[in-house]
Amino acid sequence: MSSADNLRLGIPSKGRLGDAVAGLLRDAGLTFSRPDRSLFARVRDMPLDVAFLRASDIPVLVAEGAVDLGVTGSDAVEESGVDLVQRMALGLGHCRRACCVPEASPIKTPGDLDGARIATSYPRATARYLAQLGVSGHVVELSGSIEVMISVGVADAIVDIVETGSTLAANRLRILDEISQHETVLVQQAS
Ligand code: PRP
Repeated sequence: MSSADNLRLGIPSKGRLGDAVAGLLRDAGLTFSRPDRSLFARVRDMPLDVAFLRASDIPVLVAEGAVDLGVTGSDAVEESGVDLVQRMALGLGHCRRACCVPEASPIKTPGDLDGARIATSYPRATARYLAQLGVSGHVVELSGSIEVMISVGVADAIVDIVETGSTLAANRLRILDEISQHETVLVQQAS
């Protein structure tokens, strides 16, 4: 349960980002435990509730006032298109958003993406990228496992987050072009 008077902080519920953010809060002295799969945890001795949310939903949930503050990737904030105030960058979750192709792809330069099918969970950023290149690719919007979409035959290229590069290597993909750099940020509603 969330108390009506408490400040509500939305953080990613799972994945590497979820673990890293929960660790950061604990290192900062916040003590909380998440009851099994529940949405909220009360922070001990502070008027603060932590809400466990999908990283990609956090920008909209902050903008709509469902939580007062949010921690998520700047990639998710940018893709959401909502107007938020960034309070601080948290110095973790550094990654790149990149266009990637198979190691042996005939697509050798970004200009070769003209007419290509591009799988991504970042359709806005991908459309902007293609427009900047002046090419007309077909954006295939999907919500996860983007790196396998070329091998299953629905795409010629992908736009996704690269952190260590190990997912790319496991799927025999290479970076064609780096589009943007990102990290984890604390955001609040724009006034
Ligand atoms: C992200 C991203 C890639 C992966 C890249 O997924 O979508 O799949 O990390 O990281 P790497 O370069 O270190 O291999 P994440 O694990 O955050 O989960 P998601 O698929 O839910 O986005």
